[in-house]
Amino acid sequence: RRVTRIHHLAQWKAEGTPWAMLTAYDYSSAAAFEDAGIPVLLVGDSAANTVYGLDSTAPVTVDELLPLVRGVVRGAPHALVIADLPFGSYEVSTAQAVATAIRFVKEAGAHAVKLEGGTARAETIRAIVDAGVPVMGHIGFTPQHLNALGGFRVQGRGDDAAAQLRADAQAVQAAGAFSVVLEMVPAAVATEVTAELEIPTVGIGAGVGTDAQVLVWQDMAGMTPGRKPKFVKVYAQIGEDLRAAAAQYASDVRTRAFPSEEYSF
Ligand code: KIV
Ligand code: NA
Repeated sequence: RRVTRIHHLAQWKAEGTPWAMLTAYDYSSAAAFEDAGIPVLLVGDSAANTVYGLDSTAPVTVDELLPLVRGVVRGAPHALVIADLPFGSYEVSTAQAVATAIRFVKEAGAHAVKLEGGTARAETIRAIVDAGVPVMGHIGFTPQHLNALGGFRVQGRGDDAAAQLRADAQAVQAAGAFSVVLEMVPAAVATEVTAELEIPTVGIGAGVGTDAQVLVWQDMAGMTPGRKPKFVKVYAQIGEDLRAAAAQYASDVRTRAFPSEEYSF
């Protein structure tokens, strides 16, 4: 099996070969995704929701994410592993941002980091890249800015907003990012941005015209309860399977059906 590193993503864009990215938060799932041929794994700050049960990404900390990154790097040694910088860990100063990015590389083995924001974060991206840590940008809907954006809304709709999005994309690229996530953006705008940029775009709720796609694994595998966003395609019912397995196990224990002779010494 071949490793994926950031230069491969540029190569795939040049070839016009789309690639898949998934979130991962632990060793076991990361190993499964690598076996499945997912070349790029993101330890998203969506761990706030999927791992820690919080209802927004804002409260999750660097210390909570670092051990998850460590597990993913061990589980998927061939994948490109990107660590999300959580809210509050990079906005205060470029020095703070560089220090945080370096922790994810040094303490957890991340190959790159991702952070949210366009023009406003260009200086931050530049500082981290100059320190030797590759950066993936993230524009459009940026969940860490939920309070400022006022809700889960499509971004870049209308001429002015589309122009702003294109400017943000250009700023992220000019700052030295190797790729950029476009979240909840009209497909036509995402396709346009993808054509304008030299670096690969990764879409989530951004249509089929981006260079890559990303989903939260619990969403795409049927592990997230409740209503799902329109952009999520559900490929499995892991949640139902897991509940059924746990219920059967509990029932077997209650009836002494488990462990039978087969499972005993
Ligand atoms: O945290 C996350 O999972 C993300 C992706 C959905 C892009 O940022
Ligand atoms: Na994120």
